[in-house]
Amino acid sequence: MIKDLKGKNILLGVTGGISAYKSCELSRLLMKDGADVNVVMTSNAEKFVSALTFQYLTGNKVSNDMYDVSDPKISHIDLADKADLIIICPATANFISKFANGIADNLLLNILLATKARIIVCPAMNVNMYENKIIQENIMKLKKNGVIFIEPETGELACGWEGKGRLAEIENILKFIKKKFQNKTLTNENVLITAGATREYLDAIRFISNPSSGIMGLCLADEFKNRGAKINIIAGHTEVDLSKYDNYFKVDSADEMKNEIDKKLNTYSIIIKAAAVGDFKFKSKKKNKIKKDDNSFNFQIEKNIDVLKNIGQKKIKHQILVGFSAETEKVVQNAKKKIKNKNLDFIVANDISKKGSGFGSKSNFTYFVDSNGSVEELGLQTKEKIAKYLADKIEIMRQN
Ligand code: CTP
Repeated sequence: MIKDLKGKNILLGVTGGISAYKSCELSRLLMKDGADVNVVMTSNAEKFVSALTFQYLTGNKVSNDMYDVSDPKISHIDLADKADLIIICPATANFISKFANGIADNLLLNILLATKARIIVCPAMNVNMYENKIIQENIMKLKKNGVIFIEPETGELACGWEGKGRLAEIENILKFIKKKFQNKTLTNENVLITAGATREYLDAIRFISNPSSGIMGLCLADEFKNRGAKINIIAGHTEVDLSKYDNYFKVDSADEMKNEIDKKLNTYSIIIKAAAVGDFKFKSKKKNKIKKDDNSFNFQIEKNIDVLKNIGQKKIKHQILVGFSAETEKVVQNAKKKIKNKNLDFIVANDISKKGSGFGSKSNFTYFVDSNGSVEELGLQTKEKIAKYLADKIEIMRQN
């Protein structure tokens, strides 16, 4: 059997929830896959499962005491430094809130503040607690700081309620950890990214367009490629070089973009529409350059095809469709409308009225809005970070 986690040090943090017993199985499966597992428990976790169980399962001493005199090392720094990955399973509402606010009143919280390792959190709690605004804000705060969440599942809860809050399946958590180590979490995905600005020509040389640079598209392509996805790019005019991608196709107008996308539409598993497509075009295009001697000429403008809406209408099962939007007012409200009208899974809504955000800049002020209506405010972030955040979201979506 290939041991995917051989040589990896995984720190398993267990906090005091009913599903703590499930993390015994997780520790066993991680060990079976070759990992060296160090378990750190909170004192509340010990009310649900015994430290001895983890000790026997992992073959390592279970730590729970910040001030253990029998340990000559500074335990929180030692454990924080040697971990390749930390997973908190299960994570209670109390623990998440303390972590989000930098509180460090036990060994596990100290480790989380001291570590440079990737942190994965698996929440488990009552549905109303999970949906509580304060908890959601704390989760968001941690996500913005790079903490990965494996969302709880929906179903019957130990407290008798039905809803979202049940710990994710241990098998799925294990699968996710393995993929994370390979850093190839999106290997099965065939991704189409559109980027840059479309151009609508009036004559041989004149056109209407917008200042989109294509930077967002490039950041997305790099991020998804790093995670193992196959990348296809259909781009309008860009200031960045996207030609390093094999499946790169250049277009001018919205109609050309639509036609190119349509050719292989059903082969894409993820479509990210980061291009700034012009909403209007000239009713007729002159083949030759209009001469200034012509003194005057008339033109008519008409509405362009909505490329994204066209994709949304033809969307097939399991295809993830992501739009971007640029707004100066009612950013979230308008994004929600676009999600519905264009049949999207997500929209990355950019508030271009904010300083440092918008066309050509290195950052954007965004909100992630999904088809269930949930809104996450990312604030002003670099385009690399926005791409990472979107890739994390899609990873989790594929996970569930
Ligand atoms: N889009 C598209 N075709 C168009 C216009 C927009 O495919 N003709 C896509 C963009 O690529 C983007 C999303 O739709 O992913 C939202 O674009 P945006 O310009 O914010 O919104 P519009 O739908 O054009 O609406 P409005 O300009 O009225 O805000």
